[in-house]
Amino acid sequence: MTTEVTVDVELLRSEIEKTYTEVSTEPARDFIFPTGRAWAEQLGYPQPELARVPDQTVASFAGVANPFSLGPIEQGMTVLDLGCGAGTDLLIAAQMAGERGRVVGVDMTTTMLDRARASARAMGITNVELHESLIESLPLADASVDIVISNGVIDLVPDKQVVFDEIDRVLRPGGRLQVADVVIHTEVSADARDRIDLWTG
Ligand SMILES: C[S@@+](CC[C@H](N)C(=O)[O-])C[C@H]1O[C@@H](n2cnc3c(N)ncnc32)[C@H](O)[C@@H]1O
Repeated sequence: MTTEVTVDVELLRSEIEKTYTEVSTEPARDFIFPTGRAWAEQLGYPQPELARVPDQTVASFAGVANPFSLGPIEQGMTVLDLGCGAGTDLLIAAQMAGERGRVVGVDMTTTMLDRARASARAMGITNVELHESLIESLPLADASVDIVISNGVIDLVPDKQVVFDEIDRVLRPGGRLQVADVVIHTEVSADARDRIDLWTG
């Protein structure tokens, strides 16, 4: 399967980065999408793991649903969070995977990763690593991950096939993908696909 991409990808990425820099530096602001701890609680996020994640991270939570509802993360697993943002899902997964596990977060927005890093430090969590990178080109070895999680990110990438190829490459045989994302059930017109305001909104 190939995806026809006509939108200006560099411009789109810079607008997405601008939006999520604002989510991480001005979390109290109202955005067109829901954010923050009350939203994560409404989505049924696992407790007590959510309660232990500091506000500096959860205030910038911008997920769309709850990827943990799709299956358990067991002690010792290696988990990859695609587009980890400020680290809510990452730090919940790190508590579930435990000290024998490893949780890797990848995101392209520096200020989001800064929040995730600071919260991991504040929680004394040492089994996470963070990479500033595009999810279209993952800094991970083949077949090195047990579970890929992602929340509200793949919908922001024009060439989704490249992302799924990367997921397929890094997941070990029998590994799992637990995605929460926005799905549209009708064909999106070519005009709408090129409108960056509709991607970032
Ligand atoms: C809607 S937020 C979700 C963040 C996090 N998953 C959460 O639930 O709070 C989208 C995140 O995806 C990141 N992102 C978008 N496109 C990306 C790409 N191509 N590569 C890496 N990160 C990307 C943004 O920087 C942002 O942090």
